[in-house]
Amino acid sequence: MCGIVAYVGNREAYPILMKGLHRLEYRGYDSAGVCVYNNDGLHLYKTLGKVADLERFVEGKDMSGHIGIAHTRWATHGLPNEINAHPHYSQYADIALIHNGIIENYATLKEELQKHGRSFTSETDTEVLVQLIDFIRMDNGISLEEAVHQALSQVVGAYAIAIMSKDDPYTVIGARKGSPLVIGVGDGEFILASDATPLVEYTKKVIYLDEEEIAVMTVRPDAEPTLRVTNLKNVRKTPLVQTLETNLEVLEKGGYPHFMLKEIYEQPKVIRDSFRGRINVERNTVALSGIIDHQKEFLSARRIIITACGTSWHAGLVGKYLIEELARIPVEVEYASEYRYRHPIINKDDVVIAISQSGETADTLAAVNLARDQGAFVYGICNVVGASIPRATHSGTYIHAGPEIGVASTKAFTAQVCVLTLVALSLAKAKGTVSESRFRAIINELYTLPDKIEKTLLLNDRIADFAKIFTYSRNFLYLGRGYNYPLALEGALKLKEISYIHAEGYPAAEMKHGPIALVDNEMPIVVIATNQGNYEKIVSNIQEVKARKGRIISIVTEGDTTVKALSDFYIEIPPTEAMLVPILACVPLQLLAYHIAVQRGCNVDQPRNLAKSVTVE
Ligand code: G6P
Repeated sequence: MCGIVAYVGNREAYPILMKGLHRLEYRGYDSAGVCVYNNDGLHLYKTLGKVADLERFVEGKDMSGHIGIAHTRWATHGLPNEINAHPHYSQYADIALIHNGIIENYATLKEELQKHGRSFTSETDTEVLVQLIDFIRMDNGISLEEAVHQALSQVVGAYAIAIMSKDDPYTVIGARKGSPLVIGVGDGEFILASDATPLVEYTKKVIYLDEEEIAVMTVRPDAEPTLRVTNLKNVRKTPLVQTLETNLEVLEKGGYPHFMLKEIYEQPKVIRDSFRGRINVERNTVALSGIIDHQKEFLSARRIIITACGTSWHAGLVGKYLIEELARIPVEVEYASEYRYRHPIINKDDVVIAISQSGETADTLAAVNLARDQGAFVYGICNVVGASIPRATHSGTYIHAGPEIGVASTKAFTAQVCVLTLVALSLAKAKGTVSESRFRAIINELYTLPDKIEKTLLLNDRIADFAKIFTYSRNFLYLGRGYNYPLALEGALKLKEISYIHAEGYPAAEMKHGPIALVDNEMPIVVIATNQGNYEKIVSNIQEVKARKGRIISIVTEGDTTVKALSDFYIEIPPTEAMLVPILACVPLQLLAYHIAVQRGCNVDQPRNLAKSVTVE
C-alpha cells in the first residue's frame, strides 16, 4: 500500500526520494508524487501512474534541494488521479504532507474546517489532515511540531505521515499510529520511510517509530543533525537504534525477469534458513525460543486460534491440520478481518497465533490487539523483523524468508508452513502426543525438502510450456483433500492474483455440491493428487470431473500411474510425508500461475489493484 519516503540531510534529496519510491513500488500503488524545497520555495509534482511517469513529468524542472517528501498512493478516499495523489498542500501551500492510513473522522473535521473558511481541492482524508495542522498552527500561532501534536490528538484512525514546511526547510516531521514508519540515521542525514527498503543503501542504523510517536528530524547546514522523538502526550522518548540486517542484493532481481520468479527459486534456501538452528537431529528435538519461553501458556491452552489474511491465512489452515494431527490441540482458523469485529469469545487460556509476512496487515494487527486486550496469549509468525505485529505479540518466531518483493506471496508461504510444522512438532513433543520414531521421521523428511524443491524447480520449462495452452482460459478450479485442500486454495489465489483469471479452490469432495456445475470441456481443473491418505477418493473425484469432460492438470507423486493416466497434463513431484506436501507442491502451483500470467502479459510483480502490505482495513 501507500509508500512514504522523506529525506533531510547534506545530499541532494530528489534522487534519494525517487530511488526510495522505486524500492517501495512492490507495495502496490496507483499514483505518485514528490515535493522538494529549494531557494524559491516548495515544489510539488504528482501524477497518476507509475514512479517512472512521475520522473518523466518532473524532467527538466529544478528539483535541487536537501529536503523533500515523496509518496506512492493506493487509493482509499477518492479516485486514483493526480489531484488525489500525495503530497497535499495546506490552503496557502505552506506545508506539504504525505500519508499512509485512513483518517476515520475526516468528514467531521472537514466540515469544521470549511466553517472556518478552508477549501479543499481533493477528495482525500489526507488533505483534511494537512489543513487541520495548518489551521491549528495559524490560529494559535504555534510551531509546526506543536500543531502536529494537537492535530493528531483530534484524529481518529490510522496514519503514518511525513510533513515539511517552507518556513523551516531543514526539518521533516514524521508520526505514526497503526501504520509503520522507520527512520534511517545516516551520516548527516535522516531518511524516513514506510519500510526499510529505501534505507538499505544509505545506512544500517534504523529506528522503528512506536505507536503514537512523533519524530522531528532537523539537519541545518552548520549544526549537528538532531532527532527528537515524543509521544502524543508530549513525553520525550529515547529512540532505540537497531541494526538493519537486509542488504542491497536481496532487493534486486539478480538476473531473474521478475521478483516473483526469483522468490520462487529462493525457496530451497528459505526453507533451510527457516529451520536453521531450530532442529537438532542428533537429539531429536525442535527448539523455538518463542515457544520454549512460554511453554506453560501453550501446554495449558484449551484451544489455539490462528488469525491471518490472504496467503498467510492459507498457511494458517495448514497449521491447523498440523497442530491438530501432531499436538492434538483444537485449532480454529479465523480471517483477521472477521475475527476482530464479530465479538469472538476469547478466553484467558486461549493461545492466538497471528501469521503475517509483512507484520503490518491492519486487520491482523487489530486482531492481535483485541486478543491481547481480552487476556489471550498471542504468538506471532512474521517475516519482517521489527514490524508492528511482532512488536505487539507476547512472543513469536520469525520465518527468515528475507524481503519478499513480489506482491503475490510465494517464499513466505512455504516458510510460514515450515515454521508451523516446527511449532506443531515442538508442542507434540512437549505434550507427548508423538512417538520418538515418528518425530524423527518427520524432521528427517523436513531436511530433505530443500533438495526436493530444487528437483521440482527443474520442471519450470515443462510448466511454462503447457501454461501456454491455458493462457486464454477464463476459469480454473483447484481441488485437493486433507493437507492438499489449503494448497488448492493457495494455488487458486496465486492464479487470480497475478493473471486475473477467475479461479476457485475447493475441497475435492465438496465439488459435488456446486462447482461441478461449472465443469465442461473448457474448464481446467488442477488437482493435487499426491499418493497419500485419500488417494483412492481423489481418484474418484477426478473420474467425476473426467465424466464431464473437464481438463485435468494434476500434481502427482513420482511413479504414479493411475492419476497420470486420467490427466491431460501432470507434474510429478518427489514423494514426501502427507503433512509436508504443501511445502513441496506449492512450487509447481506458483510456477503455473506465474507462467500463465507472463503469457497474458500481466504485471506479475505488481498486479493491478493489489497491495503487498495492506495497512488499511
Ligand atoms: C495482501 C498481499 C498478500 C498477503 C496478504 C496478507 O493481500 O497481497 O500476498 O498474503 O496481504 O499479508 P501479510 O503480510 O499479513 O501476510
